[in-house]
Amino acid sequence: MNILILGSGGREHALAWKVRQSPDCKELYIAPGNAGTAREGKNLPHLNPMNFKEVLHTIQSLDIDMVIIGPEAPLVDGLVDYLELHATKELILVGPNKSAARLEGSKDYSKEFMYQNHIPTAKYQSFSLTELDAAISYLKTLTPPFVLKADGLAAGKGVIISPDLDTAIQELKQMLSGKFGKASSKVVIEEFLEGIEFSVFILTDGKGHYVLLPEAKDYKRIGEGDKGPNTGGMGAVSPVNFVDNTTMQLVKQSIIEPTIKGLIDRGIHYQGFLFFGLIHHNGNPKVIEYNCRLGDPETEVVLPRLQSDLVALFNDMHAGTLGKKPILYHSEIATTVMLVSEGYPGPYPKGKPIEIPNSDELFFHAGTLLSNEEEILTNGGRVIACTAMGSSLKEALTNSYSMVKRVRFDGKTYRSDIGQDLM
Ligand code: AMP
Ligand code: GLY
Repeated sequence: MNILILGSGGREHALAWKVRQSPDCKELYIAPGNAGTAREGKNLPHLNPMNFKEVLHTIQSLDIDMVIIGPEAPLVDGLVDYLELHATKELILVGPNKSAARLEGSKDYSKEFMYQNHIPTAKYQSFSLTELDAAISYLKTLTPPFVLKADGLAAGKGVIISPDLDTAIQELKQMLSGKFGKASSKVVIEEFLEGIEFSVFILTDGKGHYVLLPEAKDYKRIGEGDKGPNTGGMGAVSPVNFVDNTTMQLVKQSIIEPTIKGLIDRGIHYQGFLFFGLIHHNGNPKVIEYNCRLGDPETEVVLPRLQSDLVALFNDMHAGTLGKKPILYHSEIATTVMLVSEGYPGPYPKGKPIEIPNSDELFFHAGTLLSNEEEILTNGGRVIACTAMGSSLKEALTNSYSMVKRVRFDGKTYRSDIGQDLM
């Protein structure tokens, strides 16, 4: 079948690499893609996933059968609904529709959903600008640090953790007055949870079935020892050694299954990946957030560990028969170290030439571009994810860091402590 992947990051390169291995994949297109995805299939560099009309037109003209939507923005905006309504043939759409994607698109909605379904999460309240006094009163009932979240999508920047009440109130006022545009016209204030974070991913078919993918831990802060501002993710590890069988059973019983049931109870058809951002709090996993897509850079360690054919899983999802066949993983450990541009997550230069070994190793491109002269250039904050496998965490990390050394570009920046906390 002909497959289209939407997106341009490391997640989409890893998806393209995995999809390409399926005997069911005939033509593979990636829109807009990057210099790495160009090696797995054909890039459509001028197709913007947010331009639904153009996406539909491309699907019809290339006779696409399956569309895998990588990033959250087109999902939250309703691309799946649009394609279901307008496509002239039945498509296999990997990603939830607009009402299902609200689990990521509105933090207020997702908190209300968790509360109604008794899914463990931090206690919270939501406020708009007209409720400023009540919001300040609520802040005063909490203990520092204070967690403020823009209700809507804010490109991963919408969560502010303030160390004291005065800064939290200043921050709250700025958010409600439009610091993140419409996304922060409503703000969720929630209790701070102490603990260690990890992520769990499922693929679900909207009919109550799901398969569990390998769990992962990502490293969000720019600086070593988890210091400094948040980024999209500086590295990841899978599996996560502190997530044992008992924890995973607890995650299934108290989080995954009530989520799936809660969606069905609301009449919401959720098909696609669902990402649970979790925190281990006093021995109990709690939900920090839902995402309606795979994580980045988690995908760069999750998919290399997946032995099952991903396209076959998508077919099962479409047929509503997920989970009938066992999903197979490699037991090896996967690690990835992200190479980023100097300055990231602040302003950074683009267009720096990249030297990268021409090998079968898993250099997943995150922000790269193929120039007209076929030169690979930096084109984003996150540039290349160096993924490697090993029979131990130490071996996988040694392999990832050996790859790190062999990529060259001006301003190459990375964390040298990925996975160290798990050793
Ligand atoms: P989110 O975008 O909701 O994943 O939040 C970004 C990051 O903020 C998370 O990965 C956590 O590190 C942190 N965070 C969010 N909510 C909380 C919370 N209630 N308690 C502690 N940390 C949090
Ligand atoms: N790495 C976190 C995310 O994809 O949201």
